[in-house]
Amino acid sequence: MDALATDFTKISSILDGSQNNKKVKLRGWVHRSRTSGGLCFLVLRDSSGTMQCAVKKDAVGEAAFAAASGAFIETSMMIEGTVKEDKRAPGGFELSASAVEVISQGEPFPIGKDQSTEFLLDVRHLWLRSQKLTHIMQARDYITRYLREFFFKDNFYEVAPPIVTKSACEGGSTLFELNYFGSPAYLSQSGQLYSEAVIAALEKVFILAPSFRAEPSRTVRHLAEYWHLEPEMAFYSQKMNMELQEKMIEYVCHKMAREHAPLLQAIGRDPADLLQVKVPFERLPYEKAIPMLQELGFKIEWGQDVGADEEFALTKDRKNPVFLHNHPMGFKAFYMREDPSKPGTVLSADLLAPQGHGEIIGGSERIWEYDELAARMKEQKMREEDYKWYVELRKYGSVPHAGFGLGVERLTKWMLNLDHIRDTIPFPRVINRVYP
Ligand code: 4AD
Ligand code: MG
Repeated sequence: MDALATDFTKISSILDGSQNNKKVKLRGWVHRSRTSGGLCFLVLRDSSGTMQCAVKKDAVGEAAFAAASGAFIETSMMIEGTVKEDKRAPGGFELSASAVEVISQGEPFPIGKDQSTEFLLDVRHLWLRSQKLTHIMQARDYITRYLREFFFKDNFYEVAPPIVTKSACEGGSTLFELNYFGSPAYLSQSGQLYSEAVIAALEKVFILAPSFRAEPSRTVRHLAEYWHLEPEMAFYSQKMNMELQEKMIEYVCHKMAREHAPLLQAIGRDPADLLQVKVPFERLPYEKAIPMLQELGFKIEWGQDVGADEEFALTKDRKNPVFLHNHPMGFKAFYMREDPSKPGTVLSADLLAPQGHGEIIGGSERIWEYDELAARMKEQKMREEDYKWYVELRKYGSVPHAGFGLGVERLTKWMLNLDHIRDTIPFPRVINRVYP
């Protein structure tokens, strides 16, 4: 058999019953194996699933049988055989092998049962083959596909932001600095400032790119490198911004539940939970959240930021996400517009996911008038020279606009009901890990 040939069958297309009694060729990796006497059971894995293959010495010959029974977990191989319906086999079908060929025998696989989380992170490059991570990577792909699809249907353009920048978007404390040909520059925390420039050309845009945060904390929801979906829209208000977000979240939740129920179930998320996500989401003003939290026993005062524990308390019993909006100006980003009808607060909205997953989106209406932006930057003691171009946007046909940033991994963590954000990305970067 030729490993590069195109006449191999995908395992998933056998498990639907269409290949019963037909001769097929499979290629993949050994998931499990067990030999007794002249019979070897190999469970073969490919990207679409796993399948039990019965290899009989009489049927394949001495050498091929030795190859099959001597295979390690993860040995790559090709197996030819006939599909047989068999109620005892996982998936209901078994391959009765007529030929077996090893592609690469390799060495004994270093991952066994019950290994520590740290060890599994050390061998992440191999652990990615586990069923759990395979399923999560598939689900994440579908989630990002549907997000893009949602925006393309609504006539947004996808644009590419710079990753190396001079202008901190989200404050100095979480910047990764680098040496840019002898002068300091930073890895982007957000493409927002740049998409604000592009909307004067394309009106409705989104970015899907990595953002970097030198987060000093070790939590279940912070990565140092994450994927950031950032739509920005000319002529959008806070209200329109929130309506777009809730429509987007409902779209991706319903589409996942309708198209990928078995995958969600395999990961541990009941598709019915995602079908319950329905617009409109509740709008909870910050000023109302504070007394609610005080009643729950939190020592929080108006003017203080809402942390992870508070977010957990606000969302643990919910089925739908909730918008926490109109935060005090003091701790929010410099570019957020003050609410003319509620001075002292900004037109901000964070979307908090249900069941305690916490903030998945941060968005706002932006300051679009020159004087207001110049004054705010002065108040916040920002170095204007690094933001000159950004401020200049307010001098040439500025328009009201709004946008938001969604953490793809945060969304995935919630939608798949995972305990930790690290499994939503193949190679997580956190405070104590940049390897492998
Ligand atoms: O709330 P943030 O900091 O907002 C911004 O960056 C805005 N400039 C976005 C915009 O309006 N275009 O980040 C937005 C989202 C958060 O709600 C969260 O989902 C995600 O980015 N995020 C992180 N995800 C994983 N690890 C981290 N360290 C994250 N920091 C933020
Ligand atoms: Mg935020």
